[in-house]
Amino acid sequence: MAILHKEIEDILTQIPTKIESVAIITGAGISQESGIPTFRGADGLWKQYKPEELATPYAFRKDPKLVWEWYEMRRQIIKKANPNPAHYTLVEMEEFFENFLLVTQNVDGLHEKAGSKNIIEIHGNIWRARCTNCNHKEFLNTPLQEIPPRCINCNSLMRPDVLWFGENYDVETLSIVQEFFQKVDLLFVIGSSGQVSVPVYLAKEAHLNGAIVIEINPDFSSYSHFADFILRYKAAESLPVLWKYLKEYLQKN
Ligand code: APR
Repeated sequence: MAILHKEIEDILTQIPTKIESVAIITGAGISQESGIPTFRGADGLWKQYKPEELATPYAFRKDPKLVWEWYEMRRQIIKKANPNPAHYTLVEMEEFFENFLLVTQNVDGLHEKAGSKNIIEIHGNIWRARCTNCNHKEFLNTPLQEIPPRCINCNSLMRPDVLWFGENYDVETLSIVQEFFQKVDLLFVIGSSGQVSVPVYLAKEAHLNGAIVIEINPDFSSYSHFADFILRYKAAESLPVLWKYLKEYLQKN
């Protein structure tokens, strides 16, 4: 841990003393220390399936029950999970900076549970279901009364209100993120492999527009190619320390 402190001190010698606008991109890694398996980690498989085989419109058309069973398994894990120190640190950061945006790829709702407010869930929310026919949306608790669940309005199939592989991002949401990222001073990318390209593209754009990018991830990711600084640590052990130092640095200068 002494090395972590040294690495952070080193980063602080290289960043401006005035930071007005901060953005965060989080991925499954930030919730790993809350007990939620990542998608591409060792325990990311379910039965013999990879997420890419289940989180698709095709898989849902073929076998909605199987897809919902996978989501129910994940929903049960997530229900028991609590935010960890990394989630809570982001709440503190949001309170500190005037301009702050948290973009999460996670559907687990742990940022909200921790108390973050300015959140964009670009991949949706696992607790929300959406009717495949009339678009009715509803928060459904686990265990579900029937699998697959049906719409209370029109009795059609409900699907998880999340973004699947092969589906388009909401254009309006993306433009809000892009607008914010154009003027961001500091961007933290925490716990994402970068296997999904749109968030990587957003981060790259921010970087091209002058944002300093700091990655927190024990392993190499697609963000590592262009990150200005990398902390190869777990989020819950390193983000609170980084924030403690950064806050002191900004208050002092
Ligand atoms: N702290 C920080 N990072 C961690 C930790 C940890 N404790 N544990 C693991 N990681 C890192 C891994 O090294 C990996 O790079 O988190 C990353 C998790 O990567 P993925 O499982 O691919 O998750 P993510 O990047 O969020 O996936 C993106 O893909 O399946 C879709 O829609 C789904 O939102 C998801 C998207």
